[in-house]
Amino acid sequence: MAITINTLRDYKARGEAFAALTAYDAAFAQVLSEAGVDVLLIGDSLGMVLQGNDSTLPVTLEDICYHVSCVAAGNRGSLIMADMPFMTYGTLPDALNNAAELMRAGAHMVKLEGTDWMRDTISALSERGVPVCAHLGLTPQFVNKFGGYKVQGRGEEQADQMVEHASSLVAAGADVILLECVPAPLATRITKAVDAPVIGIGAGKDTDGQVLVLHDMLGIPEGRKAKFVKNFLAESGSIPGAIKAYVEAVRNRTFPGEEHTFK
Ligand code: KIV
Repeated sequence: MAITINTLRDYKARGEAFAALTAYDAAFAQVLSEAGVDVLLIGDSLGMVLQGNDSTLPVTLEDICYHVSCVAAGNRGSLIMADMPFMTYGTLPDALNNAAELMRAGAHMVKLEGTDWMRDTISALSERGVPVCAHLGLTPQFVNKFGGYKVQGRGEEQADQMVEHASSLVAAGADVILLECVPAPLATRITKAVDAPVIGIGAGKDTDGQVLVLHDMLGIPEGRKAKFVKNFLAESGSIPGAIKAYVEAVRNRTFPGEEHTFK
């Protein structure tokens, strides 16, 4: 049966963790979907992993639309979430028109990076039938404002503010919250504070779902990896095996471990 926003809400209600991964093409979309990955994210991380840029900023709406249509062709019932690239939702008309393009390409939900300034945009999208995931914490489109890729929400004030932002965006209509690189206790607080399912990356084991960049969890390319990444291919020996091992580890909450977690 196809995964919908209701499936993710049911997972949260039952306390069962769900798995998400980035996907950019039809072949991987099929493998991931058949291995039980609930959410396929066409992330603007493709600017780094596919295009070789040093940030996500050069990614265009056309890039994401193209990869969404590829993923939609290979999908076997997972929920397709598409990133809105840098500066494609800075004004309300842009947000509405560009989200429509992504939905037409095959997305079931769009993801936006930001804080409470996105309230009106999220309400407008939601009221017009576009499910939204609000990405908080380390939002890579803000790398130049953050001065690098840094853990967010470390101080008490920053943490309280993030809880407030998550609650206010859910009240505005966000269906899912995604938390990137935040201390685990803060992610747990936000997961308990909001009704919407919360997906974490570098946010500890207690969020409702987990996501990783596909290439990271396959160890491609070899070399230095972020603290929150585990190479599942190293232990599994095959790509479908690695994906299944990831899904199982997320579902039984053995991933992420302490060694992948910011305190
Ligand atoms: O672009 C992306 O792949 C993402 C994930 C890192 C969550 O936003």
